[in-house]
Amino acid sequence: VSLPNPVRLPAVGQTLLWALWPTRSLDHFAARLGEPFTVRLIGGRTYLVVSSPDAVREVLTAFPDACNEELRPFLGDHSLFLLRGEPHAAHRRLIQPPFQGSPAVGPHGDRIRDLTRRAVEGYRPGDRVDVVPLVQRVTAEVITDVVLGSADGPRAAEIRELLLWLTNLVSGPVMFIDLLQRDLGRWSPGRRIGRLMRAADRAVREEIDARRPGGPDVVTRLRDLPAAELLDETKTLLVAGQDPTATAVAWALYWIHANPAVRDRLHDELGGGPAEFDAAAVGLDGDSYLDRVCRETLRILPVVPAADRVLYEPADFMGHRLEAGTRLAACAYLTHRRPDIFEDPLTFRPERFAGRRYSPFEYYPFGGGRRRCIGAFFAVFQMKVMLAALLRTLAFEAPFAGRVKIVPRNVSLAPSRALRLTVRAVAR
Ligand code: HEM
Repeated sequence: VSLPNPVRLPAVGQTLLWALWPTRSLDHFAARLGEPFTVRLIGGRTYLVVSSPDAVREVLTAFPDACNEELRPFLGDHSLFLLRGEPHAAHRRLIQPPFQGSPAVGPHGDRIRDLTRRAVEGYRPGDRVDVVPLVQRVTAEVITDVVLGSADGPRAAEIRELLLWLTNLVSGPVMFIDLLQRDLGRWSPGRRIGRLMRAADRAVREEIDARRPGGPDVVTRLRDLPAAELLDETKTLLVAGQDPTATAVAWALYWIHANPAVRDRLHDELGGGPAEFDAAAVGLDGDSYLDRVCRETLRILPVVPAADRVLYEPADFMGHRLEAGTRLAACAYLTHRRPDIFEDPLTFRPERFAGRRYSPFEYYPFGGGRRRCIGAFFAVFQMKVMLAALLRTLAFEAPFAGRVKIVPRNVSLAPSRALRLTVRAVAR
């Protein structure tokens, strides 16, 4: 089958381009090839990439049952990422409410604020802060707290470590290369993966069994699910809820400090000083400058640059007959940089969200349709509370140590380790 506007390079070359220059490659292909264009990556993955709102709408709404098979060995058959049809809708009805809306999410504010403050307690002026590991630690604590009610419990540290390992695994090449997953003997990566997967399942299962009825955590709410389903969904929430949020907060800190005018305006709004602030009010305020900073962060470089749909059956799309297995990618990165939608798209300008609404197919950092991210509301809330807690306590000096590069981590685009900030002042 001939696919439209292919990138004329072998799959290995295209994968290498993606690994080294993800955004430059996307910009280049979109400008040269038109829409849709076809990318082939190793592991037999073929993507038709689109970015105009009409095509995005079709991808996100016409193929709701197409999902990411690669996650199956890691998250299980009962994960939201893998379920289809009515079972998918039923799990979403159960799992979405604790992450959606002010009454459910607001009460987590104080805890997110306190966990963030605790993580920066020891900093002194002149210290260098490695932003990515710092925010990763906080988001891992927050998600174990919200999902399992146990950021400080006896197994919490073990679960977080296994979680980080699992997240790194699904972010790396192992996910796409079958051979690496297979147990081929004592020294094979597959053997080690199998062992660690069993350890993760055991630790999560023990933590689930230790829930008390009536607890405030998400797993307690889901306890009527059959055990296998509960295990898969718990792992899904722990993995999906941690890494993208950490990356989003890290990027926000980057953009804020790369733009002194933004930093100063934010500082004026937040006020300095260690005094308690009403975390729920800050997190739920959808009309603040901080809110716009978060939305603009997810616009200019969406953490998850594309929402994919994998076809289970042959289908017609934009005048092309596509085989089963083809992937459709609604590329938020490219849509968010279209000058016909976002004026001056390469400039970080939070004000663009004041009084202007974008359609769900113009601005979609959380995907869309029936598979839209269930954590979207919670994630933006958490970004705001973490940023407020950090910026009220610490004043940072930019620029960064070296050039901050964009590093692809499977489905997301993260800042490189060069994202370090120096503490200028600490308010206690
Ligand atoms: C800034 C942080 C986050 C970003 C950028 C993000 C982005 C996304 C995107 C793009 C998708 C795919 C949507 C689609 O295919 O249409 C997704 C799915 C998903 N996300 Fe998030 N996410 C974030 C935080 C979270 C959090 C905090 C949770 C959990 C509490 C979460 C749980 C999920 C789940 C379970 C799905 C699968 C939904 C389904 O297939 O029905 N995410 N996310």
